[in-house]
Amino acid sequence: MSRVAVVTGAAGGLGRAITARLLADGFAVIGLDLDSDGLTDMAKAPGFTGLTVDLTDAAAIRDAFARIRSDHGGLDALVNNAGTCFMSDFPDIPAEELAAQMGVNFSSAFFCCQEAVKLMAGREGVRKIVNISSNGAYNFDVFDPPHYRASKAAMDTLTKDLARRYAADKIAVNSIAPAMTETPLFGVLTPEVLAKAIAQMPHGRAMQPAEIAAWVGFLLSPAGDVSSGNVIILNQGRDVR
Ligand SMILES: NC(=O)c1ccc[n+]([C@@H]2O[C@H](COP(=O)([O-])OP(=O)(O)OC[C@H]3O[C@@H](n4cnc5c(N)ncnc54)[C@H](O)[C@@H]3O)[C@@H](O)[C@H]2O)c1
Repeated sequence: MSRVAVVTGAAGGLGRAITARLLADGFAVIGLDLDSDGLTDMAKAPGFTGLTVDLTDAAAIRDAFARIRSDHGGLDALVNNAGTCFMSDFPDIPAEELAAQMGVNFSSAFFCCQEAVKLMAGREGVRKIVNISSNGAYNFDVFDPPHYRASKAAMDTLTKDLARRYAADKIAVNSIAPAMTETPLFGVLTPEVLAKAIAQMPHGRAMQPAEIAAWVGFLLSPAGDVSSGNVIILNQGRDVR
């Protein structure tokens, strides 16, 4: 029987690459996203099921995982990838934008983890949670706004808490924190800010979604069984001092 993985934000740039990687690795993949057209497009791939969910809605997440339990019987892996980056300047960030930033990037992962650990109980082997964080939580030279950084720092603290909490239950929890990766999210940046950020990448180019997805695949493979509580920085060595 296939192992079962949930990928949030599956219809986005990184989500599609992660989904393709996990399908190629033999997982049945359930993609959760707001973008129902994108999910319908992806549903042509054998082994993929899309569920349209607003991941800022805890009740909608509970319903989606209840359906996953009834359709698949349990869960072996969760990739919390859904996210966005609101760009207002610090003094002008309205309360609603701060709440939305934390809601999409952090609370969504928190709620999905709550449901996932229940569905992982009793499954074979080491189960996996991978949280897609960001270099923005650690590098203060680049453009990232403070509420985006904070949402990802919160996510990485959740990673460490759950890693410790569930180690003996064989649930391994890690973060992957990429720098500039070419996806539709580049659209939040002005051409000048984007060009400057890409110029700072040591290889002279943005990373590709498949390069990040390969690391997710590695963590979900048996080789990843012994890693938990780590934040894996992927940035071509940009921030080494
Ligand atoms: N692209 C980069 O350079 C980069 C760098 C570091 C971290 N990241 C992180 O990678 C992750 C994926 O980003 P991406 O670059 O693929 O962006 P993207 O915009 O292409 O994809 C994001 C996906 O999340 C979905 N989504 C957003 N809000 C949602 C909600 N409320 N409910 C359900 N789905 C929702 C969108 O519909 C979209 O499909 C994000 O968490 C982002 O912070 C990206």
